[in-house]
Amino acid sequence: MTPIPNFIYGTAWKKEATTALVELALKSGFRAIDTANQAKHYSEALVGEALARSGIARDQLWLQSKFTSIDGQDHRLPYDPKADIATQVEQSFASSLQHLRTDYLDSYLLHGPYNHPLLGAEDFEVWKVLEKIYQRGAAKMIGISNVNLQQMEMLVEAASVKPMFVQNRCYAAKGWDKDVREFCHKNKIHYQGFSLLTANPQIVQSRAVAALATKYKTAPEQIIFRFCHQIGIIPLTGTSDENHMKADLGIFDFELEGEEMRLVAALQ
Ligand SMILES: NC(=O)c1ccc[n+]([C@@H]2O[C@H](COP(=O)([O-])OP(=O)(O)OC[C@H]3O[C@@H](n4cnc5c(N)ncnc54)[C@H](OP(=O)(O)O)[C@@H]3O)[C@@H](O)[C@H]2O)c1
Repeated sequence: MTPIPNFIYGTAWKKEATTALVELALKSGFRAIDTANQAKHYSEALVGEALARSGIARDQLWLQSKFTSIDGQDHRLPYDPKADIATQVEQSFASSLQHLRTDYLDSYLLHGPYNHPLLGAEDFEVWKVLEKIYQRGAAKMIGISNVNLQQMEMLVEAASVKPMFVQNRCYAAKGWDKDVREFCHKNKIHYQGFSLLTANPQIVQSRAVAALATKYKTAPEQIIFRFCHQIGIIPLTGTSDENHMKADLGIFDFELEGEEMRLVAALQ
């Protein structure tokens, strides 16, 4: 399944509950799953276990994983730390395929640049390997996470295969990552947003959002996800609650009006 998902289930921080929660998410209707080959925060092999148990055909699923540099890992590395970066990316990617029991990914991301605030040599080295993985069809789309505007400008300028996804944290106080989102929109890059609820508790708990939740007979969390979707963000959720899973997928049953969108956009 390579079409662009409209809601992604994230699998971070679930530890041994990963298998059961991913199975529950699939049962609730999620088909797009985000993970990473980063044992510190994700249990990628348990995601694979859940996918296998679900019995859902591979072509009905949308799977995304990430290459995480050594700085973002603990001692459980999915590659040889002494190998060059290109080899590390290939080893990590092969291990992701094995964990997820598949021979391709729908999307593969660089988890975060090595260098800040600009990209550096290591980032371009990783990108070259992502391009190769894409060109041989082993990842249908490629992208990058945790980036700023300048880094995106550099990557789009230098890349032979342009990034197709960005995955970033969104703060309402920064216009829900307005600079990067606008750049993505201009360059036809799909934008995935995480921490939409946890980075913005004051918005989730605001009176304005509560009033909209009452109007649409839903909860404030769904107003936030719906708002984000309407400004062009593909939302991620890592909820552990079956009712929240169903409610989150229910955001496509209503639409916020123009004035309501302006009202939520103005909240900080
Ligand atoms: N690229 C990166 O560096 C990066 C970093 C962080 C996260 N991510 C990805 O993004 C995914 C989501 O992470 P996140 O940071 O957005 O946090 P999250 O794991 O989705 O947690 C969000 C919180 O919101 C609650 N929640 C979700 N839906 C809700 C609903 N409908 N009603 C009430 N509460 C709700 C959850 O509580 P309940 O469990 O009780 O519902 C949870 O406490 C991760 O699993 C990961 O895949 C990527």
